[in-house]
Amino acid sequence: QTDIPSVKDVVTEFPVGAAITGAETVTQHGQLLTKHFDSVTPGNALKWDATEPTENTFTYAQADPLIAFAKANGLAIRGHTLVWHNQTPSWVFTGADGQPMTATAEDKTLLLARLENHIRNVAAHYGTDIGVWDVVNEVIDESQSDGLRRSSWYNVAGLDYIRTAFRVAREVAPHAKLYINDYNTNVAAKRDFLFGLVQQLKAEGVPIDGVGHQVHININWPTVAETKAMIDKFVPLGIDQQVTEMDVSIYTGSGESFPTPPADRLLKQAYVYRDMFALFRQYPGEITSVTLWGLADDNTWLDTYPVARKDAPLLFDTTLQAKSAYWGVVDPS
Ligand code: XIL
Repeated sequence: QTDIPSVKDVVTEFPVGAAITGAETVTQHGQLLTKHFDSVTPGNALKWDATEPTENTFTYAQADPLIAFAKANGLAIRGHTLVWHNQTPSWVFTGADGQPMTATAEDKTLLLARLENHIRNVAAHYGTDIGVWDVVNEVIDESQSDGLRRSSWYNVAGLDYIRTAFRVAREVAPHAKLYINDYNTNVAAKRDFLFGLVQQLKAEGVPIDGVGHQVHININWPTVAETKAMIDKFVPLGIDQQVTEMDVSIYTGSGESFPTPPADRLLKQAYVYRDMFALFRQYPGEITSVTLWGLADDNTWLDTYPVARKDAPLLFDTTLQAKSAYWGVVDPS
């Protein structure tokens, strides 16, 4: 479909992006990507297990072709992610004695040294090519009384892993906007903990530029009002916000499974996309980009998460044709 409007030409309040894994850069996928989007996020290629699988051996074989494609086509790049508890090799959390690290001073020193070395190498490799970094990902767990996720990072280093990550990222990539990214920030308890943490760290002088809202949602959840509350909460902090990983699952519970997406669900999905984009566009100063977690329904992480079943969470279908969801964004009337 070459005759339909480009998403990026219609939505002018902020850049619109898509996560890519590799297949999106060739032939028809590549054309669709560059026609409709302003920016890309490598979906896996910049994670720790991809860039530093063994200690101090850095490899950019996955990410470099994606970055080269983005640069060649004038697409901005979101770097995702420097620090996470998933997709991080176990050697990172293994002490000098070969045992899993614990909260000792020795382990903490080693862990923070590894963290600093990782960020120095990865962020320096891309220099100014990457204008935004998700410095830390998913550090909040609202089931904890203090809201802080008990990851290996936290268990060994406390909040110092976050402080160190932002400090080093700022030093190596002073041009870049530095983000703290999380999911379910539409849930009041979760966003309140995130807000409190960002407020505290900013007061300490930790260089956080923005909050990233993943926005992995479904056709029934959350409401627009809850999503509005998610954005409004962070406005007083005077920091940027981005929607970093949006998709809208056709499933509302883990027991459901359809071989092909039912028409009524796709229609509902179109209204969700319409209403959410309308909301985001009301915050042109605060929301500085919206990224979808994929290009088309032929390549979505939701086909395997939380269970194996065919999902259809994006704007284009498995044959790259525009869905009702696309029209919800492009023609909201
Ligand atoms: C997902 C990728 O899309 C999958 O390919 C991978 O198997 C698991 O991770 N939150 C995030 C992303 O921050 O990094 C995740 O990406 C999706 C949830």
